[in-house]
Amino acid sequence: MTGSRRQFLIGSAALGTFAATGFPHIWSKNTDVARAADGEIKVGVLFSLTGTTAIIEESLNKATIMAIDEINAAGGVNGMKLVPVIEDPASDPATFAEKARKLVLSDKCVSVFGSYTSASRKAVLPVFEKQKNLFWYPTLYEGRECSKNVIYTGAVPNQQQDDFIPWLVEKFGKRWYLIGSNYIYPKEENNYCKKLLAELGAEVVAEEYVPLGHSEFSSVINKMKAEKPNVVFSTVVGDSVVALHRQYKAAGLDPETMPMASLTTSENEVAAMGGAAAAGHFTSAPYFMVGESPENQKFVEAYRSRWGGDKVTHFVSESAYFQVHLFGQAAAKLAASDITPEAVREAVKGEQFRAPQGLIKVEPENLHCWLRPKIGQCQPDGQFKILKQSADWLEPDPYKAYPNQKCTADGLKTI
Ligand code: ACM
Repeated sequence: MTGSRRQFLIGSAALGTFAATGFPHIWSKNTDVARAADGEIKVGVLFSLTGTTAIIEESLNKATIMAIDEINAAGGVNGMKLVPVIEDPASDPATFAEKARKLVLSDKCVSVFGSYTSASRKAVLPVFEKQKNLFWYPTLYEGRECSKNVIYTGAVPNQQQDDFIPWLVEKFGKRWYLIGSNYIYPKEENNYCKKLLAELGAEVVAEEYVPLGHSEFSSVINKMKAEKPNVVFSTVVGDSVVALHRQYKAAGLDPETMPMASLTTSENEVAAMGGAAAAGHFTSAPYFMVGESPENQKFVEAYRSRWGGDKVTHFVSESAYFQVHLFGQAAAKLAASDITPEAVREAVKGEQFRAPQGLIKVEPENLHCWLRPKIGQCQPDGQFKILKQSADWLEPDPYKAYPNQKCTADGLKTI
């Protein structure tokens, strides 16, 4: 073999671009990678419109569509239209994974906005990691994840609990009853809560989990009556939130003496149960609908005029909304033909957006967001009165419950 022939083969192998024709496509783009094309950027919208978490995910679908339409109405991303591909994963993790594969592999979406429960996020995660695509997750969650393929825009435990738990212990007392739905999110969130309670010298009198979709709380409520805790800490999700609050009130339990403190009860679930059932109980969240910023006024007015004057916004629909705008800002930093999932991920690091809750930022180290924690008390009209809010944005610390774990370029590592 002549020197020049050998050199050519080595060069082709190293570049991995020697096509079947024998022509080295060294400058062509990899066509397997999802990318913007023909003046369009396809994005997936993957929220349940049916099943037990449709009660909340349907509103996340609406907030996402609204933000996509806002970007398009303002001229798109450097003139390119966002084209949503909408799927209903029916509150079922296996269906989430199947629909995620379709959005990434068949539709070639550049990003997918989706999911409420951590069970459904865990189900789609391997799809996004294997295909090097990008999933945007708007929900509060338990932390302990470190993926290059997810942008996490909801609160992690330190952003919901660090102010909330000491405030409740001081105000109501040290005997706590933990009730959650039976899956990873409530269990991990409770692990963090128990750490904080132990530091405060408080006691967990019961820790109980009910199946997803559970609607019969009489035996749980009888135990609460017997235990008489100072605080009932709830990480119940979906339809169960409505059932728990209604049955709690019907059983004569009084928020003045035994309040529920929740990380998951928003204006959305309260609208479904009626304000009377939730009045007096507390939620910690970065956003409440009553917030007075101009950005929130615009968000609430646009949401109601688009989806109905009786509709509510809440802390997960707010992040579902602002994460689309973060995507738009990041994509706008790229040349049209360079808009790929990984390029968008790099472009969104450190990006800030003036959201309805206030200015937020994507932390480049772990792709979670700096958010603005607040404590609200539900009122009979179904809105929350904001009792306390952090003076500044709060850094996400998704690994705080496990100080020996660290997010690295190779994923979550135990050190
Ligand atoms: C949740 O499952 N992250 C609420």
